[in-house]
Amino acid sequence: MPEAPPDDEPALHVESLDVTYGRALSALRSVSLTVPHGGVVALLGANGAGKTTLLRAVSGTLRLHRGAVTAGRVRYGDTVLDGRDPVAAVRAGVVQVPEGRRVFAGLTVDENLRAGGLGLSRRAPAQVRRARDRVFALFPRLAERTHQAAGLLSGGEQQMLAIGRALMAAPRLLLLDEPSLGLAPQMVHRIGEVIREINTQGTAVLLVEQNAGMALSLADHAYVLEVGEVGLSGPAAELARTDAVRRLYLGETADGQGAA
Ligand SMILES: Nc1ncnc2c1ncn2[C@@H]1O[C@H](COP(=O)(O)OP(=O)(O)O)[C@@H](O)[C@H]1O
Ligand SMILES: [Mg+2]
Repeated sequence: MPEAPPDDEPALHVESLDVTYGRALSALRSVSLTVPHGGVVALLGANGAGKTTLLRAVSGTLRLHRGAVTAGRVRYGDTVLDGRDPVAAVRAGVVQVPEGRRVFAGLTVDENLRAGGLGLSRRAPAQVRRARDRVFALFPRLAERTHQAAGLLSGGEQQMLAIGRALMAAPRLLLLDEPSLGLAPQMVHRIGEVIREINTQGTAVLLVEQNAGMALSLADHAYVLEVGEVGLSGPAAELARTDAVRRLYLGETADGQGAA
């Protein structure tokens, strides 16, 4: 019997996931989440809720932080991702932009971009060129600064470079960890536009944010993590209307007024 064909419209399925750090610290408990093919899903939650941990479990980077999946499953289409490594995730089309826009400060913009997609062996030069063209079309500012050291870019430009480097691997699912953190409002707006554009080009996005307003305006569906568990989930527009989300994440007071 022939093998089943690979799933060409894969979705991410996180199923009843438990994650612990070290021997004891439970960071996620029975977390389930789905990112459909081509969708944008927001993952909200306070500091320490486990948002980054969830992205690590998907991108195969958990072990680098002494974390482990102790129960449950991460699947991207037909590919099981829990317990695998970052190369396996990248090969499956899943790429994470880590929090804190970590770029290689001493390397140039161009060198940073070339570092993206390493691990994808035997890529044709034409494929690499296409990925670069896409990055420079999205981020003209990077195209003007290819030979500049990444450490000399502004915070917003470094975030763009971090996203651009991830796009060099031509992901089908992009995992973004708080891309707006610490950026000026105008740059947050620009990052939002970029995420929308990336998604329009066919890349699904799992967006971790503390800026709930931005995330809910981009996402179709959203989940709220509360100390390691999914507290709320639903269509983004619906969640944005719930009192708890408005108070906790959209900066409103109990009487419905905007906070200072
Ligand atoms: N490398 C680590 N080792 C031990 N504990 C960690 C590690 N990374 C995160 N944690 C803990 O796991 C919990 C979830 O953290 P994290 O996923 O970073 O939350 P968030 O991204 O929502 O702020 C927190 O209690 C945090 O202290
Ligand atoms: Mg985090």
